[in-house]
Amino acid sequence: MYRLIYKSRSTTPLNWALVQDITMSSEPSNDAAGISGVLLASKTHFLQVIEGKFEDVNALFRRIVRDDRHSEISIISFSVIDARLFHGWGMRGIGTFNLNKEIESKLVEKYGAEEGGIRFPLEEWKTLSLINDIKLTGDLPSWKT
Ligand SMILES: Cc1cc2nc3c(=O)[nH]c(=O)nc-3n(C[C@H](O)[C@H](O)[C@H](O)COP(=O)(O)O)c2cc1C
Repeated sequence: MYRLIYKSRSTTPLNWALVQDITMSSEPSNDAAGISGVLLASKTHFLQVIEGKFEDVNALFRRIVRDDRHSEISIISFSVIDARLFHGWGMRGIGTFNLNKEIESKLVEKYGAEEGGIRFPLEEWKTLSLINDIKLTGDLPSWKT
């Protein structure tokens, strides 16, 4: 099992409709391919975690890279993993622009700011820490329980 994490820049200003559009069309094909993960979006950037078999993660990443809804794609990590962190999530979308202001400013304090929002880190451990922090807030409009 492998986990790939990348960061990219959206070619248009990001909003919840766009994130939903991507995650809703991704879920069925990810489920069918045994892919799990999470897609974080700020107003300007994506941060995506993709978990699955070597070939499936690579095949999906090749499709994603060709998508002209984003550019400046940077791989943060590609690692062998023992277990999934996002089991059961065909592709969960999280818009950090949807977080309440108090939580957002705490996360900006911890991770830094980038173009008016939370800076998505470039270190693997920090990306997973950010996702975990957001998860712990329990303040997610997109969070299915
Ligand atoms: C930021 C971002 C994340 C995406 N994540 C996925 C994903 O997890 N699964 C998926 O099937 N498509 C995802 N897509 C869409 C793919 O890039 C592509 O449009 C889709 O898989 C259809 O590919 P095809 O037209 O080559 O069949 C994502 C697109 C973007 C811009």
